[in-house]
Amino acid sequence: MSRKILIAGNWKMNKTATEAVELAKPIIDAVANQNDIDVLMCPTFTSIPAVSALVGNSTAKIGAQNVSDKASGAYTGEISAAMLRDLQVSYVILGHSERRSYYGETDAFINKKVLACLESNLKPVLCVGETLEEREAGKVEEVIKTQLVGGLADVPADKAESIVIAYEPVWAIGTGKTATPEQAQEVHAFIRKTLTEILGTVSANIRILYGGSMKPSNADELLAKPDIDGGLIGGAALVANDFLALVNSGVKAQAAKA
Ligand code: 13P
Repeated sequence: MSRKILIAGNWKMNKTATEAVELAKPIIDAVANQNDIDVLMCPTFTSIPAVSALVGNSTAKIGAQNVSDKASGAYTGEISAAMLRDLQVSYVILGHSERRSYYGETDAFINKKVLACLESNLKPVLCVGETLEEREAGKVEEVIKTQLVGGLADVPADKAESIVIAYEPVWAIGTGKTATPEQAQEVHAFIRKTLTEILGTVSANIRILYGGSMKPSNADELLAKPDIDGGLIGGAALVANDFLALVNSGVKAQAAKA
């Protein structure tokens, strides 16, 4: 299989820079030079410099949780893709349901950020997912297709492979409720089919992560599924030992899929 598993921690609005260093240090040390899977930590903007400074020769990667759609200029409060690149950031989470619902981000706006990332050689992690109401109304595929088509408009063919998709059912985020491996696989397969329609055969190389109450006790089953290529983890990423247990699950799953 050509897809490398990605275990990603979304720290959301947690940890001061001092606390972020305490969390990142054991993870960076443990990951060291393992190269079987990709391991990513996404701290807040304010913690990125301190965490980046710790990475050294470790293969651990740093991501951001947002980026401006603009390149530079009079955009008070914004952070550009080039500024993130300068801090060794290589991935950016975009379109998270918290940004869609609390900050009104639309598919069109998220798309501008996806394109800004690709332009600067940052890998976008585009989040998609349905609410419970949408699931109960039988609209899962319709909602996800709209988010994918809107978020991925005008993506240049030569950059498509660097895109990562995260399927995060809104009803599973921070609730302790996880999609069953079968439910998740069904949606992941639909996402891959839709990616083929939008981007072509490169979809076979695009990683699709599951997010929503992923933890050490449920990760093995989820990661064993053919179209689940990793996890985007919130709560469990804030505890170094839990996150490292998820990294181990990723390494095991990668070996089993090879
Ligand atoms: P939890 O793992 O806390 O459910 O959060 C998932 C998430 O939103 C990751 O982006």
